[in-house]
Amino acid sequence: MKKILITSALPYANGPLHIGHIAGAYLPADIYTRYQKLRGRNAIHICGTDEHGVAITIRADKEGKSPREIVDFYHERIKEDFRLMRIEFDNFSRTSLPIHHETAKKFFLKLYENGYINRKEVEQYYCPKCKRFLPDRYVEGTCPHCGYDRARGDQCDNCGRWLEPKELINPRCAICGTTPVLKKSFHYYLALSKLAPSLEKWLNSKKDYWKPEVIGLALSWVREGLKDRAITRDLEWGVPVPLKEAQGKVLYVWFDAPIGYISSTKEWAIKKGDPDLWKEWWLDKENTRLIHFIGKDNIVFHAIVWPSMLIGHGDYVLPDNVPANYYLNLEGSKISTSRNWAIWIKDLASLYPADYIRFGLTYFMPETKDSDFTFADFRERVNNELVNNFGNFINRTLSFIAKYLNGRVGPLVEKGSDEDAEILSMIEKAPYELGELIDNFNFRKGIIYLMNLSDRGNRYFDRMAPWKTRKTDLNRTRRTLSICYALIRTLSVLIEPYLPDSALDIRKMIRSDVRDWESAGSWSIPDEVEIDKPRVLYKKVEEEKIEIGEKEEKKVEEKTEFIKFDDFKKLKIRIGKIVSAEKVEDADRLLKLLVDIGEKKITLLAGIAQYYSPDELIGKEVPVLVNLEHRKIRGVVSEGMMLAADEDGRPILLHPEREVKPGSEVR
Ligand code: MF3
Ligand code: ZN
Repeated sequence: MKKILITSALPYANGPLHIGHIAGAYLPADIYTRYQKLRGRNAIHICGTDEHGVAITIRADKEGKSPREIVDFYHERIKEDFRLMRIEFDNFSRTSLPIHHETAKKFFLKLYENGYINRKEVEQYYCPKCKRFLPDRYVEGTCPHCGYDRARGDQCDNCGRWLEPKELINPRCAICGTTPVLKKSFHYYLALSKLAPSLEKWLNSKKDYWKPEVIGLALSWVREGLKDRAITRDLEWGVPVPLKEAQGKVLYVWFDAPIGYISSTKEWAIKKGDPDLWKEWWLDKENTRLIHFIGKDNIVFHAIVWPSMLIGHGDYVLPDNVPANYYLNLEGSKISTSRNWAIWIKDLASLYPADYIRFGLTYFMPETKDSDFTFADFRERVNNELVNNFGNFINRTLSFIAKYLNGRVGPLVEKGSDEDAEILSMIEKAPYELGELIDNFNFRKGIIYLMNLSDRGNRYFDRMAPWKTRKTDLNRTRRTLSICYALIRTLSVLIEPYLPDSALDIRKMIRSDVRDWESAGSWSIPDEVEIDKPRVLYKKVEEEKIEIGEKEEKKVEEKTEFIKFDDFKKLKIRIGKIVSAEKVEDADRLLKLLVDIGEKKITLLAGIAQYYSPDELIGKEVPVLVNLEHRKIRGVVSEGMMLAADEDGRPILLHPEREVKPGSEVR
């Protein structure tokens, strides 16, 4: 039997997961794996955290932590995010483990021996201010291909190309912004130019069945011509280059990370108690189908670099498919973690059960183009489809069975009338038709197909009107509900890849232990069966809020409370002339003012010492609230309050438009 080796991109252990990650790679991979397993196929899902590279060190620099602290923390956090989403792996490893370092070093050496890695003397960017080499993302500048002005030294986020820092126009240090200088170093290069012909031949063999956009991009890059690329870096964090002469250098993260698919499989084999088991997957080129689930930004590495590495190595199976997804946008704009324009899984999971989110994200899965997640659409989909269609069909059927048939249905052995037979034939075909969609990575079409099944179930229910027939023809009622029950039993299996918790709940309610895919196509109920007490599966979702976007300083909502005119009249505001001003000892914010308010002079304390000097105040006229209760501060009694404008916390003095008599009323 073919073995299906499913991987999803190793997430960087430098932050939690958001909906873009889940809809892009992990949910489709999980649906695919669950489906293959239900179908009885030999499949495993392999992943882990990507713990090297400057994605990690930059984060560590920013937080003043060590890379180790960062990856330890996020490895756990990411695992938790996956658990919340019911995304399961046969193994979830880490690239900082010794098993991975060993595997990556061996891989490097094999390529080196095979003549696909060359040493080159290079000039490299060095920041004179930070006093360090600037690999990859430590340099930013303008993309030479598309002109995007925030391209990073390893890749352009706009056009997706793999870049080298030296190719950037107007380079700058990503840490301090300084223009870097070139310094001599040496690095090891992957001989992509030499591997290109084999790669192109291999890619051509994928033309018929890869997603057109993936194969199109890959072939266009190969045709542009592939240049040898540096696969080592002057960094301390990473897999050390396994050569004596290369002290202080580590493998480039995009070289070691995909090897993580292999080392994670090795770890899986060890945990299973059969350390050689991984070989049956990675070395059996005839019988393993290797499938990489990734997002769009990873295409170059999975369709060009990684296959070239595998070709150069020679022992391992090559990817059979790379069903990359596009981007999931959020409320019309690209997801950006730095601007907090993202919905974090943990936040979303605190509002909704996993299946609601899996359902919604499948609907928004960017399979053939970028898609847009909006809260309004999410609610609408969940309420209209999951609750009103799917959930309702199950609910009404089971409540009728409970109420009018004492919780019993069946037997069901004949197809019967056209109307009945139509539903039953639909059941027979469903596992194959849905399977075809999932096998071809059409996950969205798959969930729509399932919703269509329950929709047809609902319409059948309406037409057969069991609420009427129960008074006239109990046999007919029993048949109708038996057919609906059979459809529910089918759905309880077919929905499992998408909504695993629901599948379990439904099977419990109908007391069914049918769980394999092929059996889901059979409708017969040989003997009468009894169901559990039905429970409502889903609740409508309400408008709930998750804050996204940059945390704006919350403007205190100024609710205007109106006051009576009489209240206003209680304020005695007079123009006063400042006669003298001096600093208050031990209070750097306060000035002590003597103010002439006509009938007398009063003393005021004003918190303006940081903005006004005593000298510039003398002789100035200002409004003063003269009937404020007196307060003693630092031994000085303040007999009123000078009024001033408050501009973001900074006091700005107010003066009458021309000099007026001290004591003039302000009203
Ligand atoms: N860490 C990378 C990212 O998040 C993906 C690595 S995939 C692997 O974009 F193939 F390198 F493992
Ligand atoms: Zn570009």
